[in-house]
Amino acid sequence: MNLTEKSKFENFKFSKENSFLIDNILKKYPANQLGSAVMPLLDLAMRQCNGWIPEAAMKEVGRLINIPFIKVYEVATFYSMFNLKPIGKYFIQFCTTTPCWLNGSDDLLEACKKYLKIKCGETTEDGLFTLKEVECLGACVNAPMVQINDDYFEDLNKTNLIKLLNDLKNENKVKIGTQIIGRRGAEPFKNMEKNKNA
Ligand code: FES
Repeated sequence: MNLTEKSKFENFKFSKENSFLIDNILKKYPANQLGSAVMPLLDLAMRQCNGWIPEAAMKEVGRLINIPFIKVYEVATFYSMFNLKPIGKYFIQFCTTTPCWLNGSDDLLEACKKYLKIKCGETTEDGLFTLKEVECLGACVNAPMVQINDDYFEDLNKTNLIKLLNDLKNENKVKIGTQIIGRRGAEPFKNMEKNKNA
């Protein structure tokens, strides 16, 4: 692990802005059920710490909602969206569950690994990309797909996936959502012809 990145958060405290957000989050839960706020608080901590959650942040979350560290740790280690070590600028969550798999996610994942020269769970040497294989992300209708940071990229094939990664690397503007030109959202493919003529 990058020691500078780790030591930066040894005395983790939520920022002023996030403390304000936390007050609003906690108001949504009954006073005796604050433990249920563990996920939004972990998410805030992760955003404050450049995409990963150091141990000090998990302890702070536990302290704020009065649950033991182990309970926070259990949640943080269960959900694939939480990272417990530093990640790259672009966090790629690669869905390989059945609908994505039936539409070729295995081949796409291999192409992605080959292009980035990393395995799942690793970060590229330039610190740009971290790759993780995950379960269904709920966009099966546009399978296969990946989530990169907060955005979904759908209807992938080898060509548009590599173009996407290349564009991110070169800081080019990228298209969020379906990568098929002419398709809007998750509409039926037969509508695409109509769109072209509209
Ligand atoms: S199976 Fe990939 S989004 Fe649902």
